[in-house]
Amino acid sequence: MKKVQYVTLQQIPSVAKAVAKNLKGGEIFALIGSLGSGKTTFVQALGRELKIRKKITSPTFILLQAFPFQSKAKKEVWLYHLDLYRTKNFREVKTLGLLEVWGKPDTVTLIEWADKIKKYLPKKSIIIKFL
Ligand SMILES: Nc1ncnc2c1ncn2[C@@H]1O[C@H](COP(=O)(O)OP(=O)(O)OP(=O)(O)O)[C@@H](O)[C@H]1O
Ligand SMILES: [Mg+2]
Repeated sequence: MKKVQYVTLQQIPSVAKAVAKNLKGGEIFALIGSLGSGKTTFVQALGRELKIRKKITSPTFILLQAFPFQSKAKKEVWLYHLDLYRTKNFREVKTLGLLEVWGKPDTVTLIEWADKIKKYLPKKSIIIKFL
């Protein structure tokens, strides 16, 4: 997958399907786009593809939610969903323990409003811009 992807609301279901199919574990997705552009919708669509039954909502007030799912290799992988909209600084993000988990092979991390921590994002992050 390219480092920067541009996705419209209409493309979300097919992109989520393609992402789910190609997940290896350890991916970090930086979801960037204005209010209502589709960031949460994308995480929900990916959750459906990964057969996560729990309802994925916007974690705006609690910042981070984690959902386990089974990888194709039948391993337990955790989907981490963050929403940094209300985050003031990177210290707050560190407090969540994100640095200890993102990029690990048994995690897939999706970060709404990741532009807020752009300079701290690992190089391998995949940036998805919602149009
Ligand atoms: N295929 C579609 N066609 C039209 N509208 C859609 C489609 N899919 C989702 N939507 C709507 O688009 C909006 C996207 O909202 P969403 O919560 O995903 O945005 P967001 O980028 O997460 O916003 P925020 O910055 O507030 O977190 C919702 O109102 C949703 O119902
Ligand atoms: Mg959202």
